Amino acid sequence: MSNILCIGAGYVGGPTMAMIAKFCLEHKITVVDINKDRIDRWNSDDLPIYEPGLLEIVKEARGRNLFFHSDVAGAIKDADIIFVSVNTPTKTFGEGAGKAADLQFWEKTSRDILENCRKPWVIVVEKSTLPVRTAEAMSKILESGKSSTKFSVVSNPEFLAEGSAIKDLTTPDRVLIGGEQNEKGRKAVEQISELYSHWVSKDRLLLTNVWSSELSKLVANAMLAQRISSINSISALCERTEADITEVSKAVGMDSRIGTKFLEASIGFGGSCFRKDILHLSYLCEFYGLHEVADYWASVVRINEWQTDRFFHKILLEQFNNLTDKVIVLLGFAFKENTGDTRDSPAIPLCEKLLGEHANVRIHDPKALDNARIDVKNMEGNLSFYEDVYDAVKGARVITLVTHWQEYLELDFERIYEKMVKPAFIFDGRNHLDHKKLFQIGFNVFPLGRPPMRHIQ
Ligand code: UDX
Repeated sequence: MSNILCIGAGYVGGPTMAMIAKFCLEHKITVVDINKDRIDRWNSDDLPIYEPGLLEIVKEARGRNLFFHSDVAGAIKDADIIFVSVNTPTKTFGEGAGKAADLQFWEKTSRDILENCRKPWVIVVEKSTLPVRTAEAMSKILESGKSSTKFSVVSNPEFLAEGSAIKDLTTPDRVLIGGEQNEKGRKAVEQISELYSHWVSKDRLLLTNVWSSELSKLVANAMLAQRISSINSISALCERTEADITEVSKAVGMDSRIGTKFLEASIGFGGSCFRKDILHLSYLCEFYGLHEVADYWASVVRINEWQTDRFFHKILLEQFNNLTDKVIVLLGFAFKENTGDTRDSPAIPLCEKLLGEHANVRIHDPKALDNARIDVKNMEGNLSFYEDVYDAVKGARVITLVTHWQEYLELDFERIYEKMVKPAFIFDGRNHLDHKKLFQIGFNVFPLGRPPMRHIQ
């Protein structure tokens, strides 16, 4: 039996530890976080993150072999294996601001481990997405003290996507475990793979060295994001040429060498990983003097920002360059469906630009209103939040769909149309709705990468 600890009770740490607790009954799993409120919520039925299927797993394991508390130092004392899952946002100051990772939480955690560990051998597992060679830096910190503990640092990046975390954890495409290339390192990798082998088949466990593991995570996210920027760039061309992006995506994706996933045009990708990881990758290339490579990857982020901006300009243009006091409803604020997370959501810059034009912005989201309130708290202008879509659309002129929540497909758009000011407009930032039907109801419909459907010219 091992004492397994996870430092950081966020989107990655919480669900991953819940899964390990579910399948590894012989181990005791503890999750700690300095944020006491967050821990209180992990100990309640109102979990701090929304993730389908998570509550059931937490309820089953909590108090049995899964524990949440905020005594970080105390928990480190007993730990044999420590997963580090603290946040590593993009630096906002100094050298590398806006690109490099801000490692202050991560470094503080490394020093906390060094100061408090008591076991003779501790395996430290990097779970946060980190710049390449961070494990090496962590080893340096851990070896710098007087502690008699021996450490092995393992890289085990997380590939779960929000909204499908439990599914991704249950049947992962692969689990990547990178270790130091020595006897101790190999033993550490073995122990971590043993945990996963409780529910993941052996052929999905990919054992590698630390640096390959760290870099693979960044590159996987960069390549996924690059597909979206590629298709989004083509959506602009489709709008000029009257080709249909959905047809193009389908035709391109049916090439088995390309595949169908991540080819949906959108208002722009968001989430805590893509932008941050590409900027890290680009910064890393800059650091090694690979300026062309750095610029290539940075362009994926530039296209993404441009796509959101393009969407906004389309609204503005169709409203005769005048949004003053016009009611615009945002359907969705989360960066994707099935999550309450709004980090890097395209809704944030969109909202800011609309307010800049003095529009009256109303926000609806089934799960993300609390986070949306925080994101917009420094924005000035006429902004309000709605729990009910039918209330939000009263007197509105424009609806913009930002997030493809399933429930938006089930809305009664005839009822919505009646409540709106005419002519009524829908801008679909996800090509999610039934455009033909909306047009028949009376809406002027503006999809992405497809010709608009206008009643008025
Ligand atoms: C991503 C990676 O998928 C995951 O492996 C990694 O561990 C963390 O980052 P996540 O950010 O949770 O996961 O969501 P993901 O499903 O990848 O979507 C990212 C963004 O791309 C969302 O805003 C989504 O709406 C957008 N997207 C996705 C598109 O715009 N078009 C697509 O075709 C697919």
